[in-house]
Amino acid sequence: MSDINVKESFDHFSQYYAQNAFEIWKKLQNECPIASSRKYRNMWVPTKYSDIEEIARDTDTFSSRSPVVAEFGAMADFGLQVPPISADPPYHTSFRRLLLPFFAPSRIEALKDTVVYLANDLIDSFIDNGEFDAALDYAQHIPVKIISEMLGIRDEDGDQFRMWVHNFLELAPTDITVAATSLLQFFEYFQKQIEDRKINPKDDLITFLINAQIDDRLLSDQEIFGGCLLLLLAGIDTTWSAIGASIWHLASNLEDQRSLRNDPDILGSAIEEFLRAFAPVTMAREVTKDVDFKGCPMKKGDPLLLPFPAANRDPEAFENADKIILNRERNRHFAFGVGIHRCLGSNLARMELSVAIETLIVRLPEFELKNPNDVKWSVGQVRGPRKLEIKFKVNR
Ligand code: HEM
Repeated sequence: MSDINVKESFDHFSQYYAQNAFEIWKKLQNECPIASSRKYRNMWVPTKYSDIEEIARDTDTFSSRSPVVAEFGAMADFGLQVPPISADPPYHTSFRRLLLPFFAPSRIEALKDTVVYLANDLIDSFIDNGEFDAALDYAQHIPVKIISEMLGIRDEDGDQFRMWVHNFLELAPTDITVAATSLLQFFEYFQKQIEDRKINPKDDLITFLINAQIDDRLLSDQEIFGGCLLLLLAGIDTTWSAIGASIWHLASNLEDQRSLRNDPDILGSAIEEFLRAFAPVTMAREVTKDVDFKGCPMKKGDPLLLPFPAANRDPEAFENADKIILNRERNRHFAFGVGIHRCLGSNLARMELSVAIETLIVRLPEFELKNPNDVKWSVGQVRGPRKLEIKFKVNR
């Protein structure tokens, strides 16, 4: 994808997009608010806040059955379900309701000490070096640890989880072989976990799903697999990306870093502003019937991207949309989506993000990017830094 054909050949898997997403959204918002892409089976790409909200709320016309757009076909046609994110009402309502207790504030609060401990432990491992990779040595470990805890799985399998998530979100949508191999490995691994929990129940999500009921019936194995896969896909790359992007901003904008150090009370609004400006998650929908949407002739079965990060930088919705304002007052961002699928893990994500940033600011002296031209961003529907080298002075 080059600058010239971004309106008709939008490609969220291109390196051009990974490096220039902010400029691409701005160009589209000004010149072509609903872009398209023949490469992804006539995919539509709205970029305005109001259009994205309208589509997200219209679940009759825009189904969630395939929330990730693959080049080769709709995810749902391969029998893959990750409810509730891949479900429409009324099934969505029942499955979401089922998961609610697992995200209750008391459960999130109970995980906070683990995040604080882990953040400090990770910082201990590089604080004497004067440098670290914030994506690899810090941000990625926090959500993996928490998701492992929620699933009742050993920490040692964290690398395996990260690999699956990378394969599913960054490689599989354009490579059917990676998709099939990773899914097989995933099913094999979780089949053993499910069998184990049936004999040795624990206080974890797998046991919870095994015993859960929808409409007076137990969940099928496929639904239990789907619930586990959802947690991996929704909870790891997303939070990793949000933590990484926030550190990237603070390391490249020392004035904001100093403001946060001098006035810790703005942490809450700063976190919301990072979530707005660097929202990592773009979701997808599938058009359910032929429809003319704002002059675009959408056909039944067309995929459609919902780039919530673009909505968050729409100047019609936010004053100084491209400016990071740490104490921004009105901030109705869509980082966690909008409508019935709004993120179930938002409180958990906010807690992980706040602890990760606060602990880093408290423990490290002023830090900056080691090489501003050598930051690597992920491709696909979850966008965040995957190489983020940071340097700081060592206090001896
Ligand atoms: C900064 C981190 C995160 C961001 C930016 C994020 C973003 C989102 C977005 C945009 C949606 C809406 C999907 C749609 O409209 O189709 C969503 C849904 C969801 N998220 Fe998150 N998420 C984050 C972290 C988490 C975590 C940590 C978990 C759980 C461990 C989680 C679990 C879910 C679930 C279960 C849904 C589906 C809700 C439904 O379909 O009703 N998320 N997330």
